[in-house]
Order: sequence, then C-alpha cells, then structure tokens
Amino acid sequence: MSLRLGDVAPNFKATSTAGEIDFYEYLGNGWGVLFSHPADFTPVCTTELGKMASLQEEFAKRNVKILAVSVDPLEKHKGWVNDINETQKVTVGFPLLADPDKKIANLYGMIHPNASETFTVRSVFVIGPDKKVKLTLTYPASTGRNFNEILRVVDSLQLTSNYSVSTPADWKDGEDVIIAPSFSPEDAVKKFPKGVKVVKPYLRYTPQPNK
Ligand code: BEZ
Repeated sequence: MSLRLGDVAPNFKATSTAGEIDFYEYLGNGWGVLFSHPADFTPVCTTELGKMASLQEEFAKRNVKILAVSVDPLEKHKGWVNDINETQKVTVGFPLLADPDKKIANLYGMIHPNASETFTVRSVFVIGPDKKVKLTLTYPASTGRNFNEILRVVDSLQLTSNYSVSTPADWKDGEDVIIAPSFSPEDAVKKFPKGVKVVKPYLRYTPQPNK
C-alpha cells in the first residue's frame, strides 16, 4: 500500500553517488525531499535533476535535504550526473540513490505497475523533522515536475507547522495567510496583531506572522 500523509516515512540504507546513506541519519533533525525519476540518461529526467540542482541552495536555506532515487545502478548514476551538470549548467550537489533491487521503490510505492512494471514514476515525498510524510506527489513519466512548486509547499508546510494559519491557493512566501476558522473574532484579533481582514466569517486573512 502506498504511503499516506501523516505516515512515518520508512528508513532505509542504500548506496548513492555520495556513498552509503542511512536515510534517517541523512535527514538528521531537518526536513527532506525524496523524489524518484524513471531512468537515467533520459531527457525529461535530465531537466528535472538539473532544475532541482539549480534550487538546491534554496532548499538548504530551509533546512531541507534532497535525495533522488531511481532503479538504475550506481555506476550509471555517476556517468549521468556529468551529463546533467554539462547540459543543465549546474553542479548536482545532492545524492542520487541507486535502487536496482527496488527496495526503496517498493517501500515508498514508487512503482505503479499499470504505468510501468519496471520503472519508478515521478514521485515526491516531503518529510518533516518528525519523519512523517507531509506531502506526496505523483507525476507520469511524460510530464516533468515543477520544482518551484515543491519549494513553495515547503514554505507553506514550515509556516503552518509553527503558526495557526493556512495558506490560500497559489500563495507565495510573504503574502497574506488564512486564519484558522476555529478562532473566535475576539481571539483572532488578539492572536494576529498585524491585522485581521474579514471577507466572510470563515474567510479571514492576516499578514504572514513570521515576516
Ligand atoms: C524522460 O525522462 O524523458 C522519460 C523517462 C522515462 C520514460 C519516458 C520519458
């Protein structure tokens, strides 16, 4: 069965382009993004890993560790990273896990047999400091993911785990956020001193509390 939000992300040990990795040790007390791609030396995957590499400092600023995985062997990963760096004008600074026996792929439900019996689909798992799954995404092989969206979700997850707010559609860091409906009008004013904008009794905005 696939992992669902709130489930504990299973630990594993695997070889990678950065050596042996114990997933939990690698994450430490921070956040993680584990994402799979179907295969090395393929066009969409090359652009995806390049895009993630271009954003790796943004993830690091947010205390998020990145890990990529596919069922390809380590030697193939090592050769392909050179191509990613060359063609996408980046330096991939995160490990690529080798999963030829599909241990991680099966643990995380990354193989969807009706899409492909052999390759991992484009899965994304965002994992919190409590090692629980905070977000899952699944894209088909034909569609490259939007890695800025993953960064945006991390911003929302980190904000909403610390404040009693949620984020509206298309929200970006710095924009107004939504006050939890559980606050009475009086409590909302006390809790959010930067201001409360009431559109409907159940739809109230306040400036982002940590900005
Ligand atoms: C790609 O990355 O372009 C790709 C990989 C596997 C299947 C289809 C496309």
